[in-house]
Amino acid sequence: MVSSMPSASDLLGERRRVLVTGGAGFIGSAVVRRLLRESTVTVFNLDKMGYASDLSSIEEVLNELDDAATGRHRLQQVELSDAAAVEAAVKEADPDLVMHLAAESHVDRSISGPGVFIESNVTGTYNLLQAVRGHFEDLRAERRDAFRMHHISTDEVFGSLGSEGRFSETTPYAPRSPYSASKAASDHLVQAWHHTFGLPVVLTNCSNNYGPWQFPEKLIPVVTLKAAVGESIPLYGDGMNVRDWLYVEDHVDALLLAACKGESGSSYCVGGHGERTNKEVVQAICQQLDQSCPASAPHTDLITPVTDRPGHDRRYAIDPTRISSELGWSPRHNVEQGLAETVRWYLSHQEWCNKVRARAGYDGSRLGMKTQTNAESGNA
Ligand code: NAD
Ligand code: DAU
Repeated sequence: MVSSMPSASDLLGERRRVLVTGGAGFIGSAVVRRLLRESTVTVFNLDKMGYASDLSSIEEVLNELDDAATGRHRLQQVELSDAAAVEAAVKEADPDLVMHLAAESHVDRSISGPGVFIESNVTGTYNLLQAVRGHFEDLRAERRDAFRMHHISTDEVFGSLGSEGRFSETTPYAPRSPYSASKAASDHLVQAWHHTFGLPVVLTNCSNNYGPWQFPEKLIPVVTLKAAVGESIPLYGDGMNVRDWLYVEDHVDALLLAACKGESGSSYCVGGHGERTNKEVVQAICQQLDQSCPASAPHTDLITPVTDRPGHDRRYAIDPTRISSELGWSPRHNVEQGLAETVRWYLSHQEWCNKVRARAGYDGSRLGMKTQTNAESGNA
């Protein structure tokens, strides 16, 4: 599964200024690191610096690079629901390319507190579109031709599959969680700004990402960290829900290709043929821990079935034919190799995990049960 991928610099061509929203999050920071390492563009990193944000991985890269690189990373601490602040940030960035990743991203949190998902993902995307539209209309002709706004979305907008079939660009939208509904709304807004106002946009809908530097609230880091300290591993429902896992750096490859070479107005589904049941993923992590910490084996004894996630989507799977055939994308990691690297990374970065969890006030306990009142969920 090894492919050759053009460097970010080759893909970006004449573009000099890139605005990345959500660049302090898991996937956004991987995009920012790639842009800093592989090109000389200036990266404007617009992020509210919320609970899932951290800049350590970018600081590590800046330390490896020459002094000039530091000036090429400009943090803009901005809340997307603040229209005036977004407009000012877009003006300052004066971008040739916008990559919009900022979003509330955790399904469980959208169940216990949906309000912030509407503010960030729907109103935030609307504010960004308005600001970017104004910027685009003011651009000189030579920059206008190459300009793109790339909206990064999820396969969850397509809903839940049965045991057969895969999502593609023509699958009808059928979101079922507050998170996926808010992302679906943002996709529709982006398409509307393209058709109505002529904004050149590209969309991507990707499956589950995994890899280093993910805020430890999602399946793979949660299971690894709990198993490492002998805590019970929560497996939702019967553990037979399927996700299509993609290593984050393979997603970054796809994002750069789509942003720079994708056809305006088009969307691309991204996934690496990585379908696994949650049970298979959890068992693989436990087996790896058995090897690294044989004294506490078998770690599978820690697996504990817990009450299912409300509205839990059964299966996601992506058909990536379009991005593969039109843009030449293919993943460079298979799940076994990527998962093994990722588990090793979390085991050797437990201090970082403890730091970010403590800063976020998150103790690793179960999220996403329907217990909160309106006031607690940010809807009052
Ligand atoms: P993340 O939660 O790790 O990071 C999101 C970042 O966006 C955070 O730094 C956060 O502070 C910022 N943000 C959120 N709301 C904001 C607001 N109102 N104003 C400014 N900044 C805000 O998420 P991630 O996993 O890196 O996901 C990035 C994007 O990719 C999201 O749009 C998500 O829907 C999409 N996506 C994620 C996955 C996945 O498996 N993680 C898969 C497909 C698509
Ligand atoms: O499909 C893309 C989506 O993948 C992204 O859009 C989201 O931003 C991202 O969070 C992810 O959503 P999921 O809900 O699929 O990811 P999560 O890691 O939360 O859960 C993966 C599966 O594991 C899901 O079926 C629920 C289950 N699970 C999760 C946790 C945290 C457990 O069984 N136990 C757990 O403790």
